[in-house]
Amino acid sequence: MNNRYQEVTASLQTEPKVWLVTGCAGFIGSNLLEALLLMGQKVVGLDNFATGHHYNLEEVRKSVSAQQWSNFTFIEGDICNLDTCKQATQGVDHVLHQAALGSVPRSLKDPITSNSVNIGGFLNMLVASRDAEVKSFVYAASSSTYGDHEALPKVEDRIGRPLSPYAVTKYVNELYADVFQRAYGFGSVGLRYFNVFGKRQDPNGAYAAVIPKWIAAMIRGEDVVVNGDGETSRDFCFIDNVVQANILASLAQPEGVNQVYNVAVNARTSLNELFEYLARSLGNNGIVYDKQPVYADFRAGDVRHSQADISKAKTLLGYEPMHTIVQGLEVSMPWYTQFLR
Ligand SMILES: NC(=O)c1ccc[n+]([C@@H]2O[C@H](COP(=O)([O-])OP(=O)(O)OC[C@H]3O[C@@H](n4cnc5c(N)ncnc54)[C@H](O)[C@@H]3O)[C@@H](O)[C@H]2O)c1
Repeated sequence: MNNRYQEVTASLQTEPKVWLVTGCAGFIGSNLLEALLLMGQKVVGLDNFATGHHYNLEEVRKSVSAQQWSNFTFIEGDICNLDTCKQATQGVDHVLHQAALGSVPRSLKDPITSNSVNIGGFLNMLVASRDAEVKSFVYAASSSTYGDHEALPKVEDRIGRPLSPYAVTKYVNELYADVFQRAYGFGSVGLRYFNVFGKRQDPNGAYAAVIPKWIAAMIRGEDVVVNGDGETSRDFCFIDNVVQANILASLAQPEGVNQVYNVAVNARTSLNELFEYLARSLGNNGIVYDKQPVYADFRAGDVRHSQADISKAKTLLGYEPMHTIVQGLEVSMPWYTQFLR
């Protein structure tokens, strides 16, 4: 564990705080919830189960002690309702705003709903958090904000034009966060996640992310479909790195606030390489997949390559990713093989 993270987690254990995790029944939110409860924090969770699941919360309950679970208060509600956001933020120290409708293809199919939740809901959460005078507001931004800017690695202040409605919504979040600082003095931190993966990431549905979708197909012995030629690349980021970034950002020093950070590893993995890693990792867990991938058309709205420069988060937050993609797959594969069989 790096020094700053050690310092921050130790201080939280001696002086527990009240956290609000929106989207707590989803992939990233439920992992944040679990990590915070394990650290003895009090957590309020808000979710409407649009894409999250009751079984994610149930899994968190089983992974913490009864005492830790008693520190969790769940509100079933919609961030599009301002009163719900106001109720959820009462008495909260730190907000981790994760609730949103993810997926580029979903936003291309239904831009209006993605806009309402990702922008309207975000604005409600900003207003409610400002009025509740929370100590910090950290939100899930996205690497999709880099759009058609081709330079690699991606540096925070050099972005292109968005390639999807989803990317527009995530960029507007950053603009609103910035305006709230200048207009109301309300500080926040945006974390531009790059292709996060790990336990509880949903493998099902039309909008599933590539890692859980391919693992599910491999376990079932089905074809793995690659969009494009397989040379499209991503900076895949294990969930524990994301948890670390959220906690560090919540307790950032003043110079670290009112900033947007890349959260990734600074590595680039092509889809063809990913296919190999997954097949190998499944093999290590006793599942042999010997089919070749099936290549299909490129997907609309996808960026070709993605790799993050993470020096800003390292310098200003003390972020040090602890897992490469291969290490993250090693940790999460037993969960997938158990959950998907
Ligand atoms: N997973 C990634 O690789 C990735 C990459 C970049 C950004 N993000 C962002 O991170 C955040 C979390 O993503 P995730 O992968 O955990 O997705 P997820 O779909 O698993 O979780 C999102 C959660 O938000 C909840 N939610 C959606 N609309 C809501 C509403 N109106 N009111 C209350 N709750 C609502 C869902 O039910 C779900 O539990 C999102 O903001 C997403 O845009 C994720």
